[in-house]
Amino acid sequence: MAIEGAPAGPAKAAAEGASHEGEAELAGGIRLGVRVAAPGDADGGIGVAALTRAAVDGAAGAVAAAVQQGPRAQSELREGRLGETGIIGASAPMRDLYRMLERIRGSSATVLITGENGTGKELVAKSIHAMSQRAQTRIVATNCSAFNDNLLESELFGHRRGSFTGAVSDKPGLFKVADEGTFFLDEVGDMSPALQVKLLRVLQEGVFLPVGDTQTRRVDVRIIAATNRDLQTMVREGSFREDLYYRLHVVHLKVPPLRERTDDIPLLVAFFMDRLASREGVTKALSKPAMERLMSHRWPGNVRELENEIERVWVLSGHETLIGPEHLSPAVAGSGPERRPSRVPPPLAAADAALPEGTTLPEAIESLERRMIRAGLEQAHGNKTRAAEALGISRRNLIRKVQAYDLDDVGRRR
Ligand SMILES: Nc1ncnc2c1ncn2[C@@H]1O[C@H](COP(=O)(O)OP(=O)(O)OP(=O)(O)O)[C@@H](O)[C@H]1O
Ligand SMILES: [Mg+2]
Repeated sequence: MAIEGAPAGPAKAAAEGASHEGEAELAGGIRLGVRVAAPGDADGGIGVAALTRAAVDGAAGAVAAAVQQGPRAQSELREGRLGETGIIGASAPMRDLYRMLERIRGSSATVLITGENGTGKELVAKSIHAMSQRAQTRIVATNCSAFNDNLLESELFGHRRGSFTGAVSDKPGLFKVADEGTFFLDEVGDMSPALQVKLLRVLQEGVFLPVGDTQTRRVDVRIIAATNRDLQTMVREGSFREDLYYRLHVVHLKVPPLRERTDDIPLLVAFFMDRLASREGVTKALSKPAMERLMSHRWPGNVRELENEIERVWVLSGHETLIGPEHLSPAVAGSGPERRPSRVPPPLAAADAALPEGTTLPEAIESLERRMIRAGLEQAHGNKTRAAEALGISRRNLIRKVQAYDLDDVGRRR
């Protein structure tokens, strides 16, 4: 296995069942003497578990800095997590978030959590509930984008028997179920204007009307809402009610994207690897080059993407106990500084070119395809292999399309 400064020995030796000593350069610039114990070794050697921990902690410069910031920060940040909430992160934006969570501890204020996909909004919502006076009661969650309007209304507010086809019995609705507890309304930006009015009523008056009923119900529910959409823009565009926005916005928590807190990557990696280690009963470490790739990736899917990546490398590294960059998925492995731009720039789509009125979708697609193929051939001076590469299709497929569109001479010198 390719690890800078490390003989291929330790992992190999472990796989072969022999003990081995060597040195490995790990994430965080730590050089460690490694002795992997063979089965039956009396002293067990230097545990690879300790090695993983040290490697990753060493890389988390943020932790070292935080240790100088008072006893509370020390205990929180040495661990790189907020209490028992399971939120990992010691970066400045996460510390700001923890401070906000501390401030609202014990309150029942409505909270709006915003952030990109996979940043941990749901985890934060559950933590707020766990830190509140309602912790002993339940938290009920629903995702507003998972249902159509009618179903969501009945899901949230319940219905009377016979109020619509299929309503064979009375159903209480999730607001009733969440009474005296917390309601987590996920993807609240996807709620229709009609339901927004009903939600506003719950927030203002604590009452709602089940579908097909004439009698309102009263509930005491703390609402935490989350969205990855820009509600302010939606308010400006008229698709989200301004009054509801202000009602939800009492406390606003922004969960930062992972690319703005790369300091947290080593901590999160350690957390996910430790979790896998206890689940699988095997411990693994990450090499320095692998960690460098993880640090330079932009993580559009945020913590969820990182979590999946770690689970993936864990599996793909098989019996290896040291994970290298070769185990990473292409999207992540390609993020390093050595990444080269593709040889041929992709042809401009010119997708915005005006089409005559009455154009059908198949005609529009055909027109775009023809223009892109023409541009690709011109850029590649008629070289079909390069044009196909730039267009992202096979050479055979390109040749077929070139014949169909009669573009055979495009890009060639006459
Ligand atoms: N700071 C963190 N520490 C530990 N695990 C985290 C953290 N942030 C997110 N995760 C994990 O990442 C995954 C995604 O988190 P979560 O579902 O809370 O994100 P989300 O913002 O609600 O995503 P989406 O917008 O896609 O609904 C979960 O498995 C969660 O446990
Ligand atoms: Mg979510």
